[in-house]
Amino acid sequence: VLRACGVRVPCSTSNLGSGFDCIGLAFDRYLDAGYDPAGEDGQPLQLRRAGTLAGIDIDMDDDILVAAFRAELLRRGVEQVSGTLLVTSTIPIGRGLGSSGAAVVAGIALAAAACGSTLDPDAALASAVRLEGHPDNAAPALFGGLVTIAYAEHGVPLARRLPLSDRVGFAFAAPDQEVSTQRARTVLPQHVPHSAAVRNLGRVASLLYGLAHADPAAIGIGFSDELHVPYRLPLITGAASAIKAAQDAGAWGVTISGSGSGIVAACPTGAETRVVDAMIAAFSAAGAGGDGFVAHADAHGVQPRSFSTLRNALRA
Ligand code: HSE
Repeated sequence: VLRACGVRVPCSTSNLGSGFDCIGLAFDRYLDAGYDPAGEDGQPLQLRRAGTLAGIDIDMDDDILVAAFRAELLRRGVEQVSGTLLVTSTIPIGRGLGSSGAAVVAGIALAAAACGSTLDPDAALASAVRLEGHPDNAAPALFGGLVTIAYAEHGVPLARRLPLSDRVGFAFAAPDQEVSTQRARTVLPQHVPHSAAVRNLGRVASLLYGLAHADPAAIGIGFSDELHVPYRLPLITGAASAIKAAQDAGAWGVTISGSGSGIVAACPTGAETRVVDAMIAAFSAAGAGGDGFVAHADAHGVQPRSFSTLRNALRA
């Protein structure tokens, strides 16, 4: 018997420059999802979307959250599901903040909660990777904070939390343009020079030191990259000038958030608003519109939420 439940899942920025496909950081914008089993048995599952998800016009059967919810229920032996799913989000879509990773984690966590089980984050990560393929968004959505992901033998993902100094501030801005991860991956080269791969290894080590110790030089090097950023920048109108504007406004490191179109900057705490404003102004001057916010690390990852709180919030 399934029960009413809800979950809250943070968004995440991934890569942070040199940590391509292996570093992610949860931020404080959230996807909330709730499930109510009430309804007649045999009736199909209903879905209500709100917030940034309201404009999504894809069939429920193609919705990644619904697919993850159903797959996880099936894994737990539940073949048929009726009732209602409510989903709402403050995560911008197609801007490099892991909205699909958050949706997959929400579907998996909601299925566990509907079955009355506590979520096993390691098993949930393995399921999320099977369903969506991007552990660097799913892992921070599950664990919160700054996370490293690597694959053990047989492709099993291993995620671990890393230290993050509270003296590092974060700023995010994006143009009025979506970039799909699929498209942003097709522009990547099949091969890179060995020397470029080696330079990137040094950068990732520097990135992690810099974020742990709020070291401006180490963050600056860590946010630079040769594996994906140079190939993706031309896809994003105004990105190069937004990066320059953030640096001029005092950012220590600036790069593409995930696969774009957003740009994420690390800066001294207190400078975040100035950096956000500089990036928005640059996007706008490039004719790309632009919106942004000061981002804070989410330290918790996926959390339970009561279904009735969510239903009432959606009514308001
Ligand atoms: N690391 C992935 C990429 C994340 O950059 O393609 C996609 O959100």
